[in-house]
Amino acid sequence: MKPQIKSLLTNLEKTANLFWNIPPETGLFLNQLIRDAKPENILEIGTSNGYSAIWIAEALAQNKKGHLYTIESNQKLRFPAAQKNIAASGLSQNITQILGHAPGAIPKTPLKFDMIFIDATKYEHIDYLKAILPRTHKGSIIVTDNAISHKKDLKPFFKKVHKLKNFETILLNIGSGLLVNTRIS
Ligand SMILES: C[S@@+](CC[C@H](N)C(=O)[O-])C[C@H]1O[C@@H](n2cnc3c(N)ncnc32)[C@H](O)[C@@H]1O
Repeated sequence: MKPQIKSLLTNLEKTANLFWNIPPETGLFLNQLIRDAKPENILEIGTSNGYSAIWIAEALAQNKKGHLYTIESNQKLRFPAAQKNIAASGLSQNITQILGHAPGAIPKTPLKFDMIFIDATKYEHIDYLKAILPRTHKGSIIVTDNAISHKKDLKPFFKKVHKLKNFETILLNIGSGLLVNTRIS
């Protein structure tokens, strides 16, 4: 990782509570997963100030291929903060920021996503799932944050996910808990 990006991430960690960012270990996990699995089209729901987007796009840049579409609904503070941080990271060519409310704001292109990272309000996950399922293919990975910290709030979502016959599920005790669903057929 370029020292400029490392120091930007370290700096952003000082305001993680204010911007509800993922912890660094989750960032590292996503980064390594992307380097290994080499997804090309990634969707993130919940940009905040761009901290997780920078971890994701850094791996895409290392892979020399791939693009992140990231959606944020907060126009006043978090969307512009992400614009500033993404510009400072030098990773703008790997990231398209979308101002809007998911799932309505899910981009029309690309048609399918190889990976989706869900890290937004905990009461709309079923709506996100409905919208993203038709945008997955065999091998697509859905990573949902807060699977342990917000276990109770996410219970209806877990129920839906566990009923999906064509997905394998694993719960990882990393950061706030990551539910990883891989489409197997
Ligand atoms: C937990 S924070 C995301 C943190 C970010 N992933 C990171 O680690 O840097 C959740 C963000 O999702 C945004 N949000 C919540 N519901 C949303 C929705 N339905 N569509 C788009 N953004 C949403 C909030 O404004 C907030 O900035």
